[in-house]
Amino acid sequence: MRVLGIETSCDETAAAVVDGRRGLLSNVVSSQLHLHRKYRGIVPELASRAHLQKIAGVIETACDEAGGGALDAVAYTQGPGLMGPLLVGKVAAQTLARILGVPLVGVNHLEGHIFATELTQELHFPLVALIVSGGHTDLVLSRGPGRYRVLGRTRDDAAGEAFDKVARMLGLGYPGGPVIDRRAASGDPRAVEFPRPYMPDTWDFSFAGLKTAVLYHLQRRGGKKLSESEIDDICASFQDAIVDTLVQKTLAAAANFSVKDVALGGGVAANSRLREVLAARGVERGLRVVMPPRSLCTDNGAMIAQVAVHRLKRGRLSNILRSDPSLSFQNWGA
Ligand code: KG4
Ligand code: ZN
Repeated sequence: MRVLGIETSCDETAAAVVDGRRGLLSNVVSSQLHLHRKYRGIVPELASRAHLQKIAGVIETACDEAGGGALDAVAYTQGPGLMGPLLVGKVAAQTLARILGVPLVGVNHLEGHIFATELTQELHFPLVALIVSGGHTDLVLSRGPGRYRVLGRTRDDAAGEAFDKVARMLGLGYPGGPVIDRRAASGDPRAVEFPRPYMPDTWDFSFAGLKTAVLYHLQRRGGKKLSESEIDDICASFQDAIVDTLVQKTLAAAANFSVKDVALGGGVAANSRLREVLAARGVERGLRVVMPPRSLCTDNGAMIAQVAVHRLKRGRLSNILRSDPSLSFQNWGA
């Protein structure tokens, strides 16, 4: 079974071909970062237009790199995401599926982030998944492909959004995650004591207070210019506060629901400290912790195709394929 996966929910125009038996055959990602950087965030209209310009070429390259061959289905990101960008992917997928006479599969982007791991290693169910990206911070209990229960999510900023906003406060540019990750490596995580928003009575997260704590810390310095090593220290301290919170809650959920497997996904899953701490503390508790390679953490078409492979195996194709910017986690399993 060969599936073309198309992802256009945000600022990456991406397409990939996944074979149900042989795995990932090609993975093409065209990033629009250069377009949005000067606005320090994504401009939806610019994103839609860039997707339109790139989509055909990206799909063609993905098919060529996979060595040609017939496709058995075309999958695309149905939501959540930005409406304009989502529509570009949907129209491309729908057109191709109709021309080829193959099924069209609409996939939930967040489900895709969970299944990115499966392109390089097995997922064992039941599992607790932590999906951390620029738009989402979701803790999900899954009993198998298509069977999800969202335990908690962020009440304000997503983890990636907090990285991006703190980087902006520090004048480090956009996107903030990768640069804070890099700067934190030379900083002291105990230099500044930022709060850990554990919120023990809920599986929800909240990062707005932590972001404000960074702002107050900067204000207390009365506008004095920060040295490079002070910036490194703030990055390391802030990153540790986020990582501790994410890891603590994820492992608590695994214990609470008697689950032995934990999966990580989403753009923030590329964070070195998060990967290191989750793996180490997970192993200490006898858990199997899996995560995608860094290249498959951020948005890509391969994760969308991988979810579609499961859907096709089970004949779970939805009839209503409306793009939905706030598509919720949908169960489609038995
Ligand atoms: O999953 P993704 O590519 O797009 C969304 O679906 O949002 O995630 C993008 C987010 C951005 O907020 C970016 O700053 C963050 O992932 N990110 C990171 C790292 N690499 C990307 N955050 C922390 N550390 C990183 N190394
Ligand atoms: Zn994403």
